[in-house]
Amino acid sequence: MEKLIQASQDSNDNGLDAIIVGQTPAMVELKRHILALGKTDLTVLITGESGTGKELVARAIHKCSPRADRPFVKVNSAAVPPNLFESELFGFEKGAFTGACKKKRGKFQLAHSGTIFLDEIGEIPLPVQGKLLQVLEDNEFSPLGSTTNARIDALVLVATNDNLSQMVSQGQFRLDLYYRVNVVSVRIPPLRGRKQDIDLLCDHFLRKYAARNGKANTGLTDRIREQFYQYSWPGNVRELENVIQAITALENEESFCERINHHGLSGVCRNRKGPTSTADALNGSTSQLLTRYTLKELSRKAARKAETDTIVNVLTYTHWNRRKAAALLKTSYRTLLGKIKEYEIQQRPVALEDALGKTRQPASHSYVGHFERAQKGTKTARFGRYVRAGF
Ligand SMILES: Nc1ncnc2c1ncn2[C@@H]1O[C@H](COP(=O)(O)OP(=O)(O)OP(=O)(O)O)[C@@H](O)[C@H]1O
Ligand SMILES: [Mg+2]
Repeated sequence: MEKLIQASQDSNDNGLDAIIVGQTPAMVELKRHILALGKTDLTVLITGESGTGKELVARAIHKCSPRADRPFVKVNSAAVPPNLFESELFGFEKGAFTGACKKKRGKFQLAHSGTIFLDEIGEIPLPVQGKLLQVLEDNEFSPLGSTTNARIDALVLVATNDNLSQMVSQGQFRLDLYYRVNVVSVRIPPLRGRKQDIDLLCDHFLRKYAARNGKANTGLTDRIREQFYQYSWPGNVRELENVIQAITALENEESFCERINHHGLSGVCRNRKGPTSTADALNGSTSQLLTRYTLKELSRKAARKAETDTIVNVLTYTHWNRRKAAALLKTSYRTLLGKIKEYEIQQRPVALEDALGKTRQPASHSYVGHFERAQKGTKTARFGRYVRAGF
């Protein structure tokens, strides 16, 4: 116990408590590890279910290291097309291949003197795993098309929620690389295993989103907190954050009341003892908002948004070649077509938009408006980008 108290004080001194919220013994221990690891410069494998905070932990290790004011470079391995992996990580020289019209620095060069965070390491293609191992062993590599080796000094942090040892036995992940990255590992427990942290996390996110949305922090009723406690949070802290974000942002008493009458809350509340009617069980504005969007619905919405964004990004990347996109997304062509239809993702008529002088923007709801206008206005020809219906 004394050790835990000491560890908690240490993490507080380092500002870690403000970054990683949680005071359950598992989280106090995790923060103690982070503080220690920051001093070692060792490669760390961070594991945990989706939404548990792997990236947050990677950033915290970097912050606690002497490299804190150097770059932190993240590689989202799941988003890099397999054939571009090597150049993405290690860069290339001008003329290294057709189309390489100028030299490009890879993520490793960009992370020099800082930290490189290889997220979803299980997604790295086997041939690139070999080169990665060599870099981890020798701290040097040669960019594509280069005849000389580049030296690299970077802290390497990796994360996954894949079962790497199973991937090794299935021949999808190199055993030697597995041993190399698995020397020191940190496992983040799922939120359902540390429910005493839910209250602290709620307060943290309420403050964050109230400030961001310029709204008053009205807090949560005890009832909602209890329902949160009962829920299993399959999407972990990210799911909780999404729910609090929605609670802070949405207000609609009418639909709240309708929902109480028609649906009640999600399954979690039904097991609760106490008042039988959901209306009895809830009071205060936050509960109203939650009832408008039940936990299940919010999770579904969050999943839908994540899927839509990913599909849109990959389709943009493949210039709307849906077969290529399906391959990159590791799904069938048919499934992808189904999702495009379901989420109403549409290509945007570029010619018209350009003619209207609209500026290029990232994926956003505003595209829908342009698209609708385009549909009404012309017979447009050239397609290249997309629109998507709002979330
Ligand atoms: N202990 C925590 N305290 C505060 N915020 C947290 C905590 N854990 C996670 N979060 C927040 O939850 C969200 C998800 O965290 P993060 O992206 O690090 O999860 P992840 O494990 O990398 O998820 P995935 O596997 O889906 O990539 C982030 O907004 C992060 O800031
Ligand atoms: Mg992540």
